Amino acid sequence: MGVRIVTDGRSQGGTVRFETYRVKGNRGPNGEDPNFATVNNGVGMCVHCRQAIPADEIKAQARGESPHGRWTDRLYCVVAVRYQPKLDKNGNPQRYKSGERAGEVKTEKVRFFRPPNERDLQALAEAEKRLQEKWPEWEQMGLIPTESIPQGHKTAEPLRFGMNRWCDMFTPRQLLGHLILVEELNRIKPQILNELGEERGRAVVTYLQFMIDKGLDYNSKQTRWHYGRSVLINTFGRHDFSLKWTFGEMIFTGPNSGAAWALSQVLDAYSGIAELLKPLHEKLNGSAPPVTILHGTAAHTDLPEKSVDLICMDPPYYNNVQYAELSDYFYVWQRRTLQDLYPDVYRRRLTNKTDEAVANPARDGSSANAAREYERMMGEIFSECRRVLKDDGIMTVMFTHKTQEAWEALTRSLIENGWTITTSLPVESEASESTHQKNMASAASSIFLSCRKRFKTNDVPATWSGFGGTGVAQKVREAVREGLKEFAPLKLNPVDEMVASYGRALQVLSENWPVLDGDELVTPMRAMREASAVVAEYQVARITNNRLKVEDLNPETAIALTLYGIFGLSEFPYDEALSLSRSLNISLEAKPAGYTVKGRMIGINNENQGRRARHQHAEETGYHAPLLRKNSKLRLARPEERNKRRLENPQTEWDILHGLIMSYREGDVPVARAYLAQHAEGKEQVILDLLSVWAAEMSEDTLRKEAEAMLFGLKS
Ligand SMILES: C[S@@+](CC[C@H](N)C(=O)[O-])C[C@H]1O[C@@H](n2cnc3c(N)ncnc32)[C@H](O)[C@@H]1O
Repeated sequence: MGVRIVTDGRSQGGTVRFETYRVKGNRGPNGEDPNFATVNNGVGMCVHCRQAIPADEIKAQARGESPHGRWTDRLYCVVAVRYQPKLDKNGNPQRYKSGERAGEVKTEKVRFFRPPNERDLQALAEAEKRLQEKWPEWEQMGLIPTESIPQGHKTAEPLRFGMNRWCDMFTPRQLLGHLILVEELNRIKPQILNELGEERGRAVVTYLQFMIDKGLDYNSKQTRWHYGRSVLINTFGRHDFSLKWTFGEMIFTGPNSGAAWALSQVLDAYSGIAELLKPLHEKLNGSAPPVTILHGTAAHTDLPEKSVDLICMDPPYYNNVQYAELSDYFYVWQRRTLQDLYPDVYRRRLTNKTDEAVANPARDGSSANAAREYERMMGEIFSECRRVLKDDGIMTVMFTHKTQEAWEALTRSLIENGWTITTSLPVESEASESTHQKNMASAASSIFLSCRKRFKTNDVPATWSGFGGTGVAQKVREAVREGLKEFAPLKLNPVDEMVASYGRALQVLSENWPVLDGDELVTPMRAMREASAVVAEYQVARITNNRLKVEDLNPETAIALTLYGIFGLSEFPYDEALSLSRSLNISLEAKPAGYTVKGRMIGINNENQGRRARHQHAEETGYHAPLLRKNSKLRLARPEERNKRRLENPQTEWDILHGLIMSYREGDVPVARAYLAQHAEGKEQVILDLLSVWAAEMSEDTLRKEAEAMLFGLKS
């Protein structure tokens, strides 16, 4: 389905209405483009006069600070469900052949889209009116979350668009729905507590608040319509409050309402959890489980020294999620029904940001300060954990591998606070399902570190390089090689293998802590880089069946091949390439266009620049560099995307490989053979080995078959 915006033809003071249309073959009946958008990269387009509306003007209108008008939300499409006769393939209604309903027409439920009608718009206006009427009373009762949204890392976005209070995250009708539920829950709370008693009553009220929370998540201006799946994506489908240009609203009353759905979801989750706990309850035979939940920062606890057997920690991942900033969204609502039940938890106006162990540049003033604060707070937590853990106790720390910086910060605070990392294993985690991490090879798993107290810290620092293979660097390399052998049967993907190897390196470093290279303290990053180098060597040996070694290849080819072995032709984070390049002592160099390969480097072209260049000079098409960058992602260029001239004057074995593939496409084996003879004299075998790797590691069928055919032709 598409939605068409119909203007009234006036270029000044015009109005619009909306119509829905059916999309067939990517177009509407009048050639409409369903992907047509009136906003692109924050810049708008006036639907009346087609002029651009600058991003700043849009924001000013959203904040009510523009002389040109104020932005309002408009209902433009209604998704509804209806039952209709089920038709057979000739277009006739199907009927039940037997049973109680024999003869009756079969029906099916279909979802359809329509523009809003008068009744819809009246209902909206009515909701707004009722909210206004109730506002003074509700405000006096303190039910409306009118708390200001504080300045923060993730809250900057709604503030920029004039959402200044937490209640501004909702349309009037959404807000009306949520406030009625809050009012009702508070009204029936005494009755619930009275009938069910303090403890059960409190639990029921809490779960009913969770129902309200579910509604808040799915019925706000922060939701999104996923047109591919035809579903509403919740507010926390992403870990931010970025502006949603279109959002969804739920029907909030009646038997099929959002509220009823939210309740069913909470009940479902509750029964699932209860089922898991059933065996424990049976064992306890009715008595309360011996569980104490403490709420507060892990940096200070009242637990006695050496009293804990196991610590299992899933800490914040650096700056990945700003939990406290985001959780204010629910906190301000929960306070309104739960404060009297849990006075300690809801004493504050908003959640505690000060003690939060995250890297938050808005809180800490800069990214560098944020990194320091994260490390400091994780350090305090690890130190407290060391105090309360028994000497033979164990601590596990879960960590999602994101960036080297994050790893560095976490592992350094672990080691500096008296811990040895004893093992590390990648584990599958829900993170791999998360929307912004999907399709990125790097986030396939979390890493599980297990740690023990370190009792001995060297009086004299160990040395990194050492003579005759005695240094810690050598031990790191051996441990990583050993690890790679152990991981082999696990068949880890190459990224996980790399991550698991970091753990081996950190283990050696932490056991030998502190380690000096000359006067310099060896950082965990350095140890991890050493691990990457070993893994890269291993990868190249593995994918080339020991035929090629990193040192046999030109540096640009060596790193391109290693990246190909790990990521294939898909995108991967820039950081991954950076760490790999450092480990191989090869620099990543951004090049605007053509360049001469000099020394230990690999060139990177900007993906967009390359495209622009293609339009400008027809003969100068394609990318010179083997690596392409788009924002924070990189990928290897495909042979057909490479610059023709560069492939005709190849500078590296990787260029020759691509040139060879392109000449094969041009004139089959004879042309490919001629290319090889001209450009690869003396190193034909290396190029054929590269081509075998290209074929063996290729995930795209057609490209693999092409390379296999080439190999067959060239070898025969
Ligand atoms: C990765 S999440 C844990 C998620 C949890 N395993 C789950 O499945 O819901 C990290 C948690 O650490 C909490 N946190 C942040 N700073 C903390 C601190 N100083 N002490 C204790 N917990 C903290 C965050 O609020 C967040 O809930």
